[in-house]
Amino acid sequence: MKTIGLLYSKSTAFTAEVGARIAEAWGEGIEYVDIDTARLEDVEKHSALILGTPTYFNGELPSAWSEFLPEVEDADFTGKKVAIYGPGDQVGSPMSFADGVGILAEFFEALGAEIVGRTSEEGYSYEQSLAAREGSFLGLILDPTNQPELTDRRLSAWVKELKRELV
Ligand SMILES: Cc1cc2nc3c(=O)[nH]c(=O)nc-3n(C[C@H](O)[C@H](O)[C@H](O)COP(=O)(O)O)c2cc1C
Repeated sequence: MKTIGLLYSKSTAFTAEVGARIAEAWGEGIEYVDIDTARLEDVEKHSALILGTPTYFNGELPSAWSEFLPEVEDADFTGKKVAIYGPGDQVGSPMSFADGVGILAEFFEALGAEIVGRTSEEGYSYEQSLAAREGSFLGLILDPTNQPELTDRRLSAWVKELKRELV
């Protein structure tokens, strides 16, 4: 059976909460992969992946992701679809808004993956973001600090879109 791996760390609270909501909305066929303990085989066995990461340290990945990436850096993800979500703070960090999403997109693209689940930049205000490319975001960007009221709508629209793109 084809399954989707849902990767995030429970050490990043909002990202973990959104991950649990994605799994619940998805239903069968999705499996949580804890990046704090996962090995390459826990990731490779899935036909597609959803990755969750916040951005920390002014435009960097949280340590959970930085420590996990060497585990998969030699893998071949050619033909694998990867969708990425992450919270950021467009007011507090306008020069590195949700950069973590862009960093993961580039990393997995370099392994051959196809990034799906792009979203519109409309409704956000920031200066620079590695998550933005050619007028859209490379994944779902949430801003629980400044736009908490938009999370539900953005999340459900994205899951609906992924159901089309990933299955
Ligand atoms: C020390 C620190 C640095 C941060 N740097 C950034 C940043 O560069 N870009 C950004 O968009 N958000 C930044 N943020 C905001 C977080 O990404 C945001 O609060 C997010 O919701 C945290 O998610 P989590 O609860 O899953 O860890 C930073 C937050 C902290 C505490």
